Parts: sequence; C-alpha cells; structure tokens
Amino acid sequence: MTSEKMSEELRRARAYEETYVRCVPETERPVFHATAGIGWMNDPNGFSAYQGEYHLFYQYNPYSTHWDRMHWGHMKTKDFIRWEHLGAALAPDHDFDRDGCWSGSAVELPDGRQLLMYTGIRNELEQDGVERMYQTQCLAVGDGRDYEKYPGNPVLTMADLPEGSSPHDFRDPKLWRDPEGRCFAAAVTRAEDGSGAVVLYESEDGFAWRFSGVIDRCRNEYGKMWECPDFFPLDGKQVLLVSPMEMQPVGLQFHAGYGAVCKIGTYEKGVFSPETVHSMDYGLDFYAAQTMETPDGRRILIAWMQNWATTSCQSPGIRCFGEMTVPRELSIREGCLIQTPVRELEGYRTNPVRYQNLVVTEELHLEGIRGRVLDLTVCVRPAWERGYREFQISLAKDGEHETAVRYRPKDSVVQIDRSRCGAPYDIVHTRSFYVRQQNGSIKLRLLMDLHSLELFVNDGEQTASLLLYAPEGADRVTFQARGGAALMDVAKYDIALS
Ligand code: FRU
Repeated sequence: MTSEKMSEELRRARAYEETYVRCVPETERPVFHATAGIGWMNDPNGFSAYQGEYHLFYQYNPYSTHWDRMHWGHMKTKDFIRWEHLGAALAPDHDFDRDGCWSGSAVELPDGRQLLMYTGIRNELEQDGVERMYQTQCLAVGDGRDYEKYPGNPVLTMADLPEGSSPHDFRDPKLWRDPEGRCFAAAVTRAEDGSGAVVLYESEDGFAWRFSGVIDRCRNEYGKMWECPDFFPLDGKQVLLVSPMEMQPVGLQFHAGYGAVCKIGTYEKGVFSPETVHSMDYGLDFYAAQTMETPDGRRILIAWMQNWATTSCQSPGIRCFGEMTVPRELSIREGCLIQTPVRELEGYRTNPVRYQNLVVTEELHLEGIRGRVLDLTVCVRPAWERGYREFQISLAKDGEHETAVRYRPKDSVVQIDRSRCGAPYDIVHTRSFYVRQQNGSIKLRLLMDLHSLELFVNDGEQTASLLLYAPEGADRVTFQARGGAALMDVAKYDIALS
C-alpha cells in the first residue's frame, strides 16, 4: 500500500510496532505458540492458506496488554510452528468501523487477491442517553501484507438479518468458497429469544451478499449469545463450532461461563441436523476457535488459549498478552471431534528420552525428563491385577509450584489442577472430564510451552488447554500412582525452533 493510501490510524499502529516489537525479547514469548507482536491478542481471525503460506490475523490492540479498540494483527507461517510477524492489517479508521475491527476471516479470490471480512463496530449515543453498539460486516482486499477497505462497506447490515434479530449482536463472519467458487459467510446474531443463532450468507463474487438461511439456533440451550462460528465438512459429516457466552454447567460436559461447543451432524439441502454435541476442549483456557483447510486437504483448528473471565491475570510489566493454541489437525471418530497437534511440530522435536514398562508407585522423577518446553507422551496401564486408584503427572514443579494431570480409572475421569501453579488470583483452577474407559489404560500427550499446557487424551479424543503461572525455573516433572501400581511408557522430546 502506498503510504498516501494508509490511514493515520494504521500508520500509527505500524509505526508503534516498528519501534516497540523489537523490544519484546524472544524469551518473553512462548517458543512454538503464536503470540501478538506486542500488546493484546484475542480471537484468531482470517486463518487461511494464501499463496503457498498460512496466514493468521488476530484481534489486536498494539498499544497495551488490555482489550480496547480492536485492530487486526497479522502473521504468517509455512509450517504452523514458526511464525513471522507482519504489520497490523486493519485499524478502526472509517466511520463504519470507527470503534473497532472485530473478528472475521479470509479467503483467496480467483484473481489472487486476499479478501477479508470482519465486523465493523460503531457506538452510537442515542436520544435516551444510552450508548448502543451497532455491528455490520465489512470487507478489505489485499495482497497478503496491505489491505484496503472496500468502498461499498458495510456489505451486510441489520437489513440483512432475519426478522427479530439484534443489530447489536451481528458479528464474526466466517468465509469459505465452495468448489464452484461461490462464497459463503456464516455469522452470529442474537435471535428473538435472546440467544445466539448462526446465519448464512451467499455471494457469487465475495462483494455482493444475500441472506441464505439460518444454520442453527441456540434456543437458550447451549449458553446465550454465540460467538465465532465455523461451519465445514469433515470426514463425511458437517461440523458447526461456536463459542457460547453464559453457558450453564451440564455434568462434566459443559462448564459455566465462556464455552466452546462442537456440533456434528449432516447438512443436506440447506438443513443442518446435529447428531452429537460436545465441548471442543475440556480445559480452562480455550475460546473462539477457527479452522482452515490446507492444500493437502487437512482441516486445521486454532483457538485463543485464554478465558475472557481471567484476562486480568497478567504478570506485571509484560509487553505481550495472549497466545493461540497449537494448530490442531481435525478428524471425526464415532461422532467425536478428534484433535491432534499438527504433524509439523514433530520436525522440531529434539533430545528424545524414552522409558518403557516402568512400574510407578511413589513419586518418581526420571532422568532426562524435565523442562518447560516439552512434548511428552505417557501411556499408562495397571501394573498388575489390582491396578491403581489414581495416576498423576506433575509438571512445572518446584518446592512451591506444580500443575497436575490426574487419571482415576474407576471413574474414567481425568482432572487438570493448576491450584498450585502460581496464579495471582483465586480463579477456577481445576476441571474434570470423562474419558473413554479402557481397563485402566490411557494415553496422555502433553505439550508444554513455558506458561501453557495442552493435553491430548487418547490420540486427541479429548483435549484440555490451560495457562499456568509458575516461574520458569519450576521445571520438574514427576509421576505417581496411588492406591496400587501403574505400568508406564514415556516418550519425551524438547521442542526447539533454532
Ligand atoms: C470473541 C469476541 C468476538 C468479537 C471479538 C472482539 O472473543 O467477543 O465475538 O468479534 O471477540 O474482540
């Protein structure tokens, strides 16, 4: 973009990045997880393949580590692990988005340009003295680095919503193109019953849009308002992802507050019929997931590894807040979404250490197994007939701190517990979830990257993502079986990008 065309707001953001991104030392960032260049990051946006690389935009406030008037940050990668920061892509610089450029997505146009669709935010102080927010869908077109807002913005407004929907909640469009080249966008709105709905729009060229139908409604069943939808075919089924607000707990399946829900079913003649519904992730920090398809046909998911309720848990003096999950390959098995870390991660494994058939009873520390940047797989089974009551892995451990993953075979429950991880507040620290009963055997893969832990149970049948706050010196890993003995195989790798 020529500098005359760049708005003052965008110029300011890029100048700020130019000066300050280099001040954030690499040691302040996780090693293999995507973070903002500087400032605040929330939802992944525009996660997509473009001209031989993968692009990731994100909700971004360069100027502080707190949410404010949203910009779009931008980075790209060739392998989902090593990211290159690019300059801010969008700033709130037009009347239709003057109070923020909220979440959205990207596709490549047939002429090779990249099309972004995002939610433009406008706050209006109305005659009754109340400020109300209006949300419309807007476009920007670019070359993978610089973007120009479309002169016809906004392209979808309250006039394009089904009757009874709220113009104050109409956001987060997810774009895709079908094999014939037609464009689709799924967005969320709030329906007449006060809860979320996913609405679908269609376009021949990506610029002129028309309403096409309602994909699904919350009906106050899975939370209230829904955010950040995604809708895609996978393994012969159709998947709808949404991030509901104000969820109510249901057993160990859904927890209160901000959730992430996956519905799997069929999609025929414009009708989505869900067959199974479950949590996308059973941890403490996971929201606003978005997926993309790679040229080799893999469906990859990335999410914001954070919970809106705990964004004030920030270490003093940090310059960069928020990180994404590791990108995950998706598939479906028996009605469940299976998530495994992208295979590209394996290319960054170093220093392997393996143990097999170890009998575990009392707390065990294994030579060569420690650290804060780890890819650790542990297969556990009963050592002999009586088995064990509880198996525990403790990580990020020193005399004061630990983060634990426990498995109780009798109840088929896994529990994550960060109550002693050094968190500065009394936030939610534990979560339990059911896993498939397999006679006391379980496979746990743990990805730890300084202040985060992602757990993949039984080859991705379930995942649990969480942040932890222990100082980096807390790097011990121990294993323990209570109430009997377990047999364990361990494979550990460090992850290093250099
Ligand atoms: C979800 C969300 C989106 C919105 C964005 C604003 O985390 O609330 O619905 O577009 O964040 O930053």
